[in-house]
Amino acid sequence: MLLPTLSLLLLLLLPLASATPSQYCLFGLPRDEADFCVALSLYHNHSTSAHDVYLSLSVRRPVQPAGNSSLGWTAVGAGPKMAGSLMFVLYGDPEASASAGPTLSVRTVKTGHARPVLITQDDTAGSQLDVRVAHTSWTKTEDESAHVASASAVCYGCSEWPSAEISPESASQPWIWAWNSHQDMKAFAPDQQLDMHSLVDGGYGHFYVDMASATSHHADGFPVLNVTSQHDNANIGTSDRPMTADKSTGLWQKLLSRPLAHLHGFFMMMSFLLLFPLGAVAIRSGSDRSFKHHWAVQATATASALSGAVTAIIMSDRVFGSPHQIAGLAIVCLLPLQALLGWRHHVDFIRIFRRTWISYAHIALGFTILLSGWANVLAGLLLYGLGRFGIALVALLILLEAGGVGAVSYLAARRRALTRGAVQKETKSSAAYFALEDIPESDEEDEGAEERGLMQKREE
Ligand SMILES: *[C@@H]1O[C@H](CO)[C@@H](O)[C@H](O)[C@H]1NC(C)=O
Ligand SMILES: *[C@@H]1O[C@H](CO)[C@@H](O)[C@H](O)[C@H]1NC(C)=O
Ligand SMILES: *[C@@H]1O[C@H](CO)[C@@H](O)[C@H](O)[C@H]1NC(C)=O
Repeated sequence: MLLPTLSLLLLLLLPLASATPSQYCLFGLPRDEADFCVALSLYHNHSTSAHDVYLSLSVRRPVQPAGNSSLGWTAVGAGPKMAGSLMFVLYGDPEASASAGPTLSVRTVKTGHARPVLITQDDTAGSQLDVRVAHTSWTKTEDESAHVASASAVCYGCSEWPSAEISPESASQPWIWAWNSHQDMKAFAPDQQLDMHSLVDGGYGHFYVDMASATSHHADGFPVLNVTSQHDNANIGTSDRPMTADKSTGLWQKLLSRPLAHLHGFFMMMSFLLLFPLGAVAIRSGSDRSFKHHWAVQATATASALSGAVTAIIMSDRVFGSPHQIAGLAIVCLLPLQALLGWRHHVDFIRIFRRTWISYAHIALGFTILLSGWANVLAGLLLYGLGRFGIALVALLILLEAGGVGAVSYLAARRRALTRGAVQKETKSSAAYFALEDIPESDEEDEGAEERGLMQKREE
């Protein structure tokens, strides 16, 4: 009894004991781009009951001719954007003095994309946050082609940083990085102003860190950067993309992360991929109840599409922001018109038993709405960020549906052509009873079946 309990306990403790530092690397050196590695480990400090973050950062940059060895800086920051991010900026001059290491400066931005400034007491007021730079050094790569700046720092009480969420529980904590290759940092005072990171001689981006799996329950000191191969993926527990699809977040969390977008997609795909095509098939089914089915399904589809439009308007800052939105609004505006045409056609049809221009307008507009709706569903899925495989799958589904609706329309037209004679006989035989002078000779009625149903009812 004791043994299984103990082994179970050990199994539960295993992930805690084997916490590995998370590491994110970019190897841009051969292309004159940003080149750095950052490793993080977290420690739950029992005396403060906050999390301390241990950070090691190394930056490689090419050996420059004398006079240019102090150019550029590289920064990483915790948080999804510059404003509020807790940033670590590394720079210096490897040739200035052998003894002085590079500078690791800890900064933040109050609002927008302003220049990062040193963090002050005000920034950490009310928290136990305290950042200490432990050591910095310059080395060279084995082939002496690049300088390597290394630095490590500990951020005590880091989970209490007030300006951006730094969550030790997160499996996908957003971080940012930025790089500039041309600014002369010769003065290298810790508070030197930073130039913009332009896209030409600099850059910036995001990365995401599994903080939870880098958290250990005893302080291990600074994580050791493990760059075994520059060409292999050196990322450990990190990614360029949010790691939302991993084991720690389920389908529900994923859906709830963008509730309006998912609701909008559900309503629209329900309408255009399922209900509208179904309604188009229903009217051509040849059943006596085809008309009833048709209008019930199309009314549901219209309600669903209108709900989708309302969701879209709620979630958009600008309603006319993209072609998808403009096309979507146009299509939705046509839906009430289409309903009106359908109703008018039906009222006329049961009175005169043939199609009018309204009927043809209803059919043409129906196909227009269906085709443009399909195109706009694909455009929406592209905007959403669905992968190429997903888009191809939906496109295939749409092609199959188009084939299906086309085939049913063709078969219905053929069936009407074949039974037209019989219908005409039937209608002619009852013409006297109805006192109808004008019996349709050539019109192909979609509602042939419905028409016969009506006739029979009246004859009863
Ligand atoms: C330093 O870099 C600038 C531009 O980055 C270049 O124009 C200049 O020639 C370089 N100086 C030396 C001494 O190589
Ligand atoms: C816990 O935090 C305090 C206050 O920041 C710090 O002085 C102490 O060294 C930390 N404990 C450990 C084990 O790192
Ligand atoms: C470094 O990473 C490699 C591959 O990911 C791994 O096999 C090796 O054990 C790691 N070394 C250390 C010291 O963690």
